[in-house]
Amino acid sequence: MERKKIRIGIIGLGLMGREFASSLARWCHLLDISAIPVLAGICSTGKSEWDWFSEHFPDLLIKTDDYRELLKIKEIDAVYCAVPHDLHEKIYIDTINSGKHLLGEKPFGIDKSANDNILKAIDDHPELIVRCSSEFPYFPACQELIKFLREGKYGRLIEVRSGFHHSSDMDLNKPVNWKRMVKINGEYGCMGDLGMHTLHIPFRMGWKPLSVYADLQNIAETRPDQQGVMVPCDTWDNAVLTCRSIDPRTEKEFSMVIETKRMAPGATNTWFIEVYGTEGSARFSTQHPKAFMYLKTTGKEQGWVTIDIGSQSAIPTITGGIFEFGFSDAVQQMIAAFISELSDKNSNHPFKNVTPPETSLSHKLFTAALESHYSGKKIFLDS
Ligand SMILES: NC(=O)c1ccc[n+]([C@@H]2O[C@H](COP(=O)([O-])OP(=O)(O)OC[C@H]3O[C@@H](n4cnc5c(N)ncnc54)[C@H](O)[C@@H]3O)[C@@H](O)[C@H]2O)c1
Repeated sequence: MERKKIRIGIIGLGLMGREFASSLARWCHLLDISAIPVLAGICSTGKSEWDWFSEHFPDLLIKTDDYRELLKIKEIDAVYCAVPHDLHEKIYIDTINSGKHLLGEKPFGIDKSANDNILKAIDDHPELIVRCSSEFPYFPACQELIKFLREGKYGRLIEVRSGFHHSSDMDLNKPVNWKRMVKINGEYGCMGDLGMHTLHIPFRMGWKPLSVYADLQNIAETRPDQQGVMVPCDTWDNAVLTCRSIDPRTEKEFSMVIETKRMAPGATNTWFIEVYGTEGSARFSTQHPKAFMYLKTTGKEQGWVTIDIGSQSAIPTITGGIFEFGFSDAVQQMIAAFISELSDKNSNHPFKNVTPPETSLSHKLFTAALESHYSGKKIFLDS
């Protein structure tokens, strides 16, 4: 049977725009997926970025530096948008109002007010699938951890630690870019950049923060600009949020620590989740991407069991079961989860993309975290 084609436009052709396009180019990698996304249009104000796309995707219907022109193309069904945070609100709302499905990048609005406005536009278009990007949970070893959680093997939760130690900023001579400027990146700093990644699994498990105490740090206060002149670098580098949360499974409270760090010596793009419970515990980190670690609490002594998980992803692929899985595979699996929902609203994909209400909850948390840091107090979140 011929598979349905879904025409995609990409707005923002930088780091993530190219990663997305590359995933579409090797869609033959995936088995058992009912639709094929086809790259049909590209948009970025940086015209030099078009060349790579033109070379590898010769059949584009449109290349433009004005996203409104792309949104006018009727043949385009869905948009992936990866632009700086100050542009999320306008471009996401215009995309939704143009009647196109959207996979938007985090933080899904530069601040809470922008996110609220995006969610209002979504409410006016219930026929559309709108999701937010987050790829790390699609590592097969992490999918194993998610199964462990869904089966409630942890008993009563003691503590959850979820974090992203990016560490891209340890080089103090690295020039400043838009991700280090409050005006473009947003006041959340590292939380807006990295935070949604750390919250996808906790929120999906229903672990909502009831309160937060936040400690934020701006370590690199200046950085060179493109000419080498030292200029202010005004975003938060590191954030540690200590939350009180509640597990709907047991209705008991527990500690949830969310760490987003651009400066964590020794780490490189290390995303991790650790769950500690009275009956069992589990850990996953991209530092050991094959390893699903768990332990059972049966008596006094407890030892971690480590299982090497192969490439058995949520959507099966052509890759042999024992081979390794990587970042590009996780991005492709995230897109596949989106495409599954586009082709069937009731898709039974085992772990769907971040939803708009989950982005809203992240904005409530980051806004409360700023208040906590400035006041030095624990802040209670409205339910
Ligand atoms: N999911 C992830 O792992 C991940 C990783 C990095 C970044 N991101 C997110 O992706 C988004 C983009 O980040 P990036 O690292 O790709 O940035 P980038 O700076 O590499 O690319 C930004 C792109 O936006 C384009 N752009 C700027 N203004 C525009 C406009 N008015 N109209 C159209 N295009 C415009 C630029 O030309 C560039 O192509 C951000 O929201 C960021 O938080 C996600």
